[in-house]
Amino acid sequence: MSKLANKNILLCVTGGIAAYKAAELVRLFKTSNAFVKVLMTKGAQEFITPLTMQALSGEKVHTDLLSKEAEAAMGHIELAKWCDVIVIAPCSANSLSKLAEGRGDDLLSAVCLASESELCIAPAMNQAMWKDSRTQKNLKKILRSGAKIIGPASGEQACGDVGEGRMTEPKDILNEIENKFKKGSLSGKKVLITAGPTQEMIDPVRYISNKSSGKMGFSLAEEVKNQGAIVTLISGPVNLNTPDKVERFDVKSAKEMQSKVEELIEDFDLFISAAAVADFKPKKLQENKIKKDSNNKKVKLVLNKNSDILKAISEKKLNLKTVGFAAETENLITNAKRKLSDKNLDLIVANDVSDESIGFDSDENEVTLITKKEKKIIKKTSKKIISKKIVEFIAQKVIND
Ligand SMILES: Cc1cc2nc3c(=O)[nH]c(=O)nc-3n(C[C@H](O)[C@H](O)[C@H](O)COP(=O)(O)O)c2cc1C
Repeated sequence: MSKLANKNILLCVTGGIAAYKAAELVRLFKTSNAFVKVLMTKGAQEFITPLTMQALSGEKVHTDLLSKEAEAAMGHIELAKWCDVIVIAPCSANSLSKLAEGRGDDLLSAVCLASESELCIAPAMNQAMWKDSRTQKNLKKILRSGAKIIGPASGEQACGDVGEGRMTEPKDILNEIENKFKKGSLSGKKVLITAGPTQEMIDPVRYISNKSSGKMGFSLAEEVKNQGAIVTLISGPVNLNTPDKVERFDVKSAKEMQSKVEELIEDFDLFISAAAVADFKPKKLQENKIKKDSNNKKVKLVLNKNSDILKAISEKKLNLKTVGFAAETENLITNAKRKLSDKNLDLIVANDVSDESIGFDSDENEVTLITKKEKKIIKKTSKKIISKKIVEFIAQKVIND
């Protein structure tokens, strides 16, 4: 039986050339035994008639917000409560921007504001509209609110352009919606992850940093997202691609990382601090490049301690779980246990960075997971598998404990 059987799906159609494909989507939802209602914007009705959608769905199509008849039949709040999932396909650039702003001046935006159901959006627009920085900014806002974005696909467009912006094919949208109902172990959780090293400037061209590549944090971000979480990644300077559907902020220094974490943290269920934040920074940033002076064979560098981001967050006693990493070169377990208790963490992932084949910049790792109650070793394997096991452990022992 399809995962969509007996689910209530509100299919919203906006004004784009791909609106005709929404007719096929109604048919696919119906053959999956879902209950389907259709909402159409004014724009959508210029491209495909409500009569077609009514005939396919077997239901009256919802088009108006400020209408006595519409409110008397099934008003926007009832519609918002009725559905298990809202699918907007195609979603125009205009509707995407309304959703990002939180507007409520037509039936689609008002229903989306009023609904606590899952929101899945399949954007479709000209490639330049899609690439436009305002559309991309709107997209990021919407992703952060927890909506799922499906596509868009690349290829030839109705206007003759070639690029990203085509609506994902109806059968692929159906698959994505079905997957939504297969819940991951962190489904719906909001997770903030830090990754990579930080750079602490000495003068305008030199800095202190460390060997962290960010691979572990990025791999965790990917896995946490695969388990259904909404992921935000704050990264130090690394040379890695952002995992698909993960929001990323780039920072350089420990101070910048701390500010970004503190700005965002209130919103999250889980904070994974995988970044190798520099413990020290030069006491004074030299305004100009320090010159090689033949009379002066030594240059003294005085370092100050950076503040501990994870400890500062855990001291705020927010309603979130915290996971830290302890990269040690000696007394691995003792030092990790001390950090677990000093910073009052829910889990610490300890790894021995004295062994070059694991830890910093390598593709493999071996870690020990330590909570207040237990200790578990994950033997040397790829960072991808280590991430899967860490996330599995977090879901079972940290989030759902
Ligand atoms: C022929 C034609 C095709 C269009 N195709 C698209 C499209 O694919 N994607 C899009 O975002 N806007 C497209 N537009 C612009 C939208 O229809 C317009 O922004 C409209 O206000 C969207 O309203 P809505 O979001 O309320 O449906 C198109 C306009 C015309 C005239």
